[in-house]
Amino acid sequence: MAEALQKVVEEDRQGEAYAPFAADPNIFNKKFYIESYGCQMNFSDSEIVASILHNEGYGATRNYEDADLVLLNTCSIREKAEVTVRNRLQAFKKVKDQNPGLLIGVLGCMAERLKAKFLEEEKLVDIVVGPDAYRSLPSLISEAGGGQKSVNVLLSRDETYADISPVRLDSNGVTAFVSIMRGCNNMCTFCVVPFTRGRERSRDAESIVAECKDLFDRGFKEVTLLGQNVDSYYFTPSFADGHQPDSVNFAQLLERVALISPLLRIRFSTSHPKDITDDVLHTMARYNNICKYIHLPVQSGNTRILQLMNRTYTREWYLNKVKRIREIMPDCGISSDVISGFCTETEEEHQDTLSIMELSKYDMSYMFSYSERPGTLAARRYTDDVPEDVKKRRLIEIIDLQNALSRESYRNDIGKTFEVLIEGNSKKSDKDWCGRNSQNKMVVFAKGEVPLSKGDYVQVHITSATSATLMGHMV
Ligand code: SAH
Ligand code: SF4
Ligand code: F3S
Repeated sequence: MAEALQKVVEEDRQGEAYAPFAADPNIFNKKFYIESYGCQMNFSDSEIVASILHNEGYGATRNYEDADLVLLNTCSIREKAEVTVRNRLQAFKKVKDQNPGLLIGVLGCMAERLKAKFLEEEKLVDIVVGPDAYRSLPSLISEAGGGQKSVNVLLSRDETYADISPVRLDSNGVTAFVSIMRGCNNMCTFCVVPFTRGRERSRDAESIVAECKDLFDRGFKEVTLLGQNVDSYYFTPSFADGHQPDSVNFAQLLERVALISPLLRIRFSTSHPKDITDDVLHTMARYNNICKYIHLPVQSGNTRILQLMNRTYTREWYLNKVKRIREIMPDCGISSDVISGFCTETEEEHQDTLSIMELSKYDMSYMFSYSERPGTLAARRYTDDVPEDVKKRRLIEIIDLQNALSRESYRNDIGKTFEVLIEGNSKKSDKDWCGRNSQNKMVVFAKGEVPLSKGDYVQVHITSATSATLMGHMV
């Protein structure tokens, strides 16, 4: 039980935050500090914001106490994510009291959800900017510098920041995220994302390939293509002369990125089970450098609950998709997102979630208890009627089961040999390297006498395992 509770905290991505590197003070005359919460899209957006601020003479600092501008890139996905942000703002209040010239800005999904209300609720906030309005940051900063609170939360139908070259924050120099689309059209009833990030739109394929190629030329070895629903990626170029070149779907985009170099690994996230096609699966199988790993969130294992969630697939349909993945790529890793205690969920329906996890044999899952979000379809249509203690107990059962499934999955790798991309020193010892295999499992192994560095590929023979790490030696 204690292990399970600890996992709740670990698996909850909303708690993650980071501060970036310190920039050269000779080039930049002002300093910004940024913390990001929520999904990888937000972390990726912070790198776009850093690029916009660099052009304005702002360098990044790791210390908010000596910043001229403090930014929080926020998440609204669950209530707890918003509580974390409000607590964080309290920490900045002390600094602002001492330095009234300090500007504090709130970016991202919570800014979009609360809009100008944020300024009323949190008096110390000067700037509120939604995810599609980052280009207006320079003018908002200068308005706020003149003493006027400023807000831009306009959502866009076409903004993809395609032409902005992100400044990589806190990068290991080996792996990078590349945003390929924005927004979401799916309207899962529990989810706030369609309201905070607007309509789905795909980024120009050429600009994606160019960004990935540039990363590879600068020594990066792995790109993760990001979107809320990458499988519905669809870009139609339009040329002024009336000539209509071919559109690009996700399978074609994957192939184009894979062709940059066999030494560049490609990952992607997230896949909606309804949209991932055989075409995508066959493309993955065809290229050794497209990693054999799919994050395929199930949310619930019960068809009635899936319908209430508007996920548009049934239990059987999902299980068939998993079967198809394993037919085409027997060695493919699969992970999931699971929600416990959605509106009206019964005990039997919860059992269906446990059994679909067992049948799907996930290597890993992100697991949450349902948190009602204001304005979502579920908040308007259904009653959040599963008591909090029942939601938590079901969540712990889900986590305990996932721990057992992960242990089994990792144990099954003992005796196998994998190609591992070295990401850096292992957390525990600088005598060990760590990196991931194609299936996204973390592998730790002794450096020994071999002269290697991060970014190198090595073959590692697995000799032992926990439920989250494989250990072995180079061969
Ligand atoms: N676009 C991705 C997921 C984005 S949000 C997808 O469709 O899979 C990440 C995860 O947060 C979701 O998969 C879901 O499991 C969880 N989540 C979203 N809204 C939630 C809510 N209101 N309460 C609890 N968990 C939620
Ligand atoms: Fe939310 Fe569903 Fe869109 Fe994912 S697919 S972001 S869960 S609405
Ligand atoms: Fe959170 Fe927005 Fe991502 S709500 S999960 S930061 S899209």
